[in-house]
Amino acid sequence: MVKYLSCLAVLLLFIIVACNSNNYRDEEYVAIPDFNFPKSTKFKEKLSEYKIFEGSPADLLPSKDFHLLELSSTLFTDYSQKQRLVKLPVGTKMKKLTDGSIEFPNGTILTKTFFYYNDDRDQSLGKKIIETRLEIKENDVWNIATYIWNKEQTEATLETNGLETKISWISENGTMRSTNYQVPTENQCMTCHQSNSKLTPLGPTLRNLNRIVSRHSSNLNQIEYLQSVGLLNEFDVNQIDYIVDYKNTEESLTDRSRAYLDMNCAHCHNPKGWDKSTQRPFDFRYETPLEQTGILRKKEKVVNTMIRGKMPFIGTTMLDEEGIELLLEFTESL
Ligand code: HEC
Ligand code: HEC
Repeated sequence: MVKYLSCLAVLLLFIIVACNSNNYRDEEYVAIPDFNFPKSTKFKEKLSEYKIFEGSPADLLPSKDFHLLELSSTLFTDYSQKQRLVKLPVGTKMKKLTDGSIEFPNGTILTKTFFYYNDDRDQSLGKKIIETRLEIKENDVWNIATYIWNKEQTEATLETNGLETKISWISENGTMRSTNYQVPTENQCMTCHQSNSKLTPLGPTLRNLNRIVSRHSSNLNQIEYLQSVGLLNEFDVNQIDYIVDYKNTEESLTDRSRAYLDMNCAHCHNPKGWDKSTQRPFDFRYETPLEQTGILRKKEKVVNTMIRGKMPFIGTTMLDEEGIELLLEFTESL
């Protein structure tokens, strides 16, 4: 009954937000300063110069130097699909650091390609690729940029000023969805991708990679797989923690909610994030004990800022309905 009522409440709120959708995201809500983080590489004009894909680029087939990275917990971006790859310079490895983070060698390239299937129920009906985001480490400094794909899906071009592009697709349950997808500006990239006022990758932590993946038609632990192909240094996988896939309803409500907050909110709301967000009394990192996250004191506010489309305030234009339902159920259970 409680669950039924809360579903009704969410539905009502969605209707209110939908009727108000023109000013759903208030540009003036939080002003972003110019970060101007130092740069140590000049990005090439065309994505093809990085030789990320082989064959027809639209097939997103990684070339032999690029390797798939799969995350357990991911960032919601308007229901887009994402492919994540890593390339390391020949003869180098990623290394485990004691705090559970990964040290990447200079020359590393991390990529994330955003696309939509025309119909989520049948991938053979084709897809539309929108952008490929890159992070490159040189001289111990990370650099960040995005490339927008052309209509023909043959090439993508460097774009630092962002772009809005209309996209529609059929979702898993057969309904037509559409949005004015927003490619972030370089400065918006930096808002999320920072730690101690330095640019940083966010997804590939050891615990977020510590999961079962399918490679060469067998299922294996991704950490052990990366070690076996020489991309990651050797250590016992049992030494490290793991984070759950929040979409997997077989996992516990607490683990799923904490995993969601970790990848969707904690890149800003952690003690080393952008100072404007750390001024708020939240620390949404997975490892932070619940009592210290700030959630218990502001249960309703946490979910309400999402329902009203205020948080996360950049990187999306649509509400994450499933994410909101998850956090609503979680905060009501506390
Ligand atoms: C709203 C916050 C946010 C914004 C804005 C954002 N990112 Fe990210 N990005 C993330 C998070 C969180 C991840 C890891 C989770 C995932 O991939 O689902 C990530 C992952 C990535 C990755 C894969 C490697 C990694 O760090 O995990 C690349 C490359 C990347 N982003 C580049 C960019 C670029 C370029 C821009 C700007 C055009 C940008 N991002 C804007 C939050 C953001
Ligand atoms: C791009 C960085 C960023 C991301 C991502 C982000 N926040 Fe925030 N958040 C902020 C900033 C900055 C503020 C302070 C806004 C202000 O000064 O009014 C804030 C404020 C808040 C507040 C307090 C609002 C108020 O009125 O007091 C809540 C609650 C909150 N965020 C929750 C979340 C949740 C939940 C997520 C993930 C779904 C999230 N945030 C993601 C930057 C971020």
